[in-house]
Amino acid sequence: MTPPTATAVARQTNDLDAYWLPFTPNRAFKRAPRLIARAKGMHYFTPDGRAVIDGLAGLWCTNAGHNRDPIVNAIAQQAAELDYSAAFHFAHPKSFELASRVAALAPADLNRVFFCNSGSEAVDTALKIALAYHQVRGEGARTRLIGRERGYHGVGFGGISVGGIVNNRKFFGTLLAGVDHLPATYSREHQAFTKGEPQWGGHLADELERIVALHGASTIAAVIVEPMAGSTGVLPPPKGYLERLRAICDKYGILLIFDEVITGFGRLGHAFAAERYGVTPDLLCFAKGVNSGAVPMGGVIAREGVYNAFMQGPEHTIELFHGYTYSAHPLACAAGLAAIDLYRDEQLFERARRLEPFFADAAMTLKDLPGVLDVRTVGISAGIDLAPRPGAMGERGYEAMERAFHDEDLVIRITGDTLAIAPPLIVTEAQVAEIFEKTARVIQAVM
Ligand SMILES: Cc1ncc(COP(=O)(O)O)c(C=O)c1O
Repeated sequence: MTPPTATAVARQTNDLDAYWLPFTPNRAFKRAPRLIARAKGMHYFTPDGRAVIDGLAGLWCTNAGHNRDPIVNAIAQQAAELDYSAAFHFAHPKSFELASRVAALAPADLNRVFFCNSGSEAVDTALKIALAYHQVRGEGARTRLIGRERGYHGVGFGGISVGGIVNNRKFFGTLLAGVDHLPATYSREHQAFTKGEPQWGGHLADELERIVALHGASTIAAVIVEPMAGSTGVLPPPKGYLERLRAICDKYGILLIFDEVITGFGRLGHAFAAERYGVTPDLLCFAKGVNSGAVPMGGVIAREGVYNAFMQGPEHTIELFHGYTYSAHPLACAAGLAAIDLYRDEQLFERARRLEPFFADAAMTLKDLPGVLDVRTVGISAGIDLAPRPGAMGERGYEAMERAFHDEDLVIRITGDTLAIAPPLIVTEAQVAEIFEKTARVIQAVM
């Protein structure tokens, strides 16, 4: 066999065909790729060395900034010391250490931590724990799960069933049975251009009463919501909404699950949104920021009572038939411990809290640009709705993201014609201003 020529090898290794990109229009991407070769702090660098400011903390995950030395070193050291050990029937020390550190950040008696590898797995894990919890307590008829319209809970079958974004659902069959949805909390008419939690909408939690009246409380296992709906375009909870959900769940013995995959680890100026809102869920999903996005990891924090409900029967029997080969992977745990140290040492959650008013003001400078229908902010995150082009929903948003990267050296997120901005929590005021100035130019360019 003749060996391949150097040109053939080069072509093969640089071939864009084989990789099927997730949640990406593949053909458009491959025509004008956005390639990122390395990163440091607030910036990405393209293969040709262009610095691009990261307005999205990776994908809402690199909260401590990119390639932070303590995290990089912890991963390298861990890889040299212990690459992997069996996750079932065995454990390594850092899994306990990280669980304790995560539990210490969570409010009240949220203190038992189950690890997995992503936000989607965290959601499926929480839903399964909720169902099994009722089962082990003799209330096995509680099988219904209640999500919310516009909710995003990842891409597992559980997550898309309770999720409320039509394109994530409609291609994938009948999904889980027995799911119902609360209405979305957003109303442009009542909430447009609000900084923080809108005044209007707390009453929408009472829709849970209607759902309970329809199905009967004895059939409902859990309600799952994102305290702030991130992926659908940054929808902060209306004032009082989460408190009301909690009260109704308590009244009917329904578990409340917060999906804090985005809001966890500082995005809203606290370790968890549960703390910001003073509402304690029964199960809390996390991922992304737990190790600042450095190694895939997710998890569920359970209240002690939920965990204890499982701790019965003969001691040699497995209490929860669930887990992943890579639950509490050593590299993810090492990165998590280093990230949580960084959050503490650099007081990044407090920093986010202090920066929030400046960030919100900077976002609101976009308010009067043509075609801007709404700007919402909470913590270090902003959603900006652009008017869609007639008959071409999402085209303007896509062009904005392309222009941001190619013309303005800026990464932003889009969902349809909504832009999302959520930089790492190390962002400076000057960089916040830079990000929104660039975004303003992008918006003007796509109108
Ligand atoms: C609230 C929420 N839940 C779940 C997920 C899914 O996480 P992953 O992509 O890690 O599976 C996301 C991802 O953005 C999310 O925002």
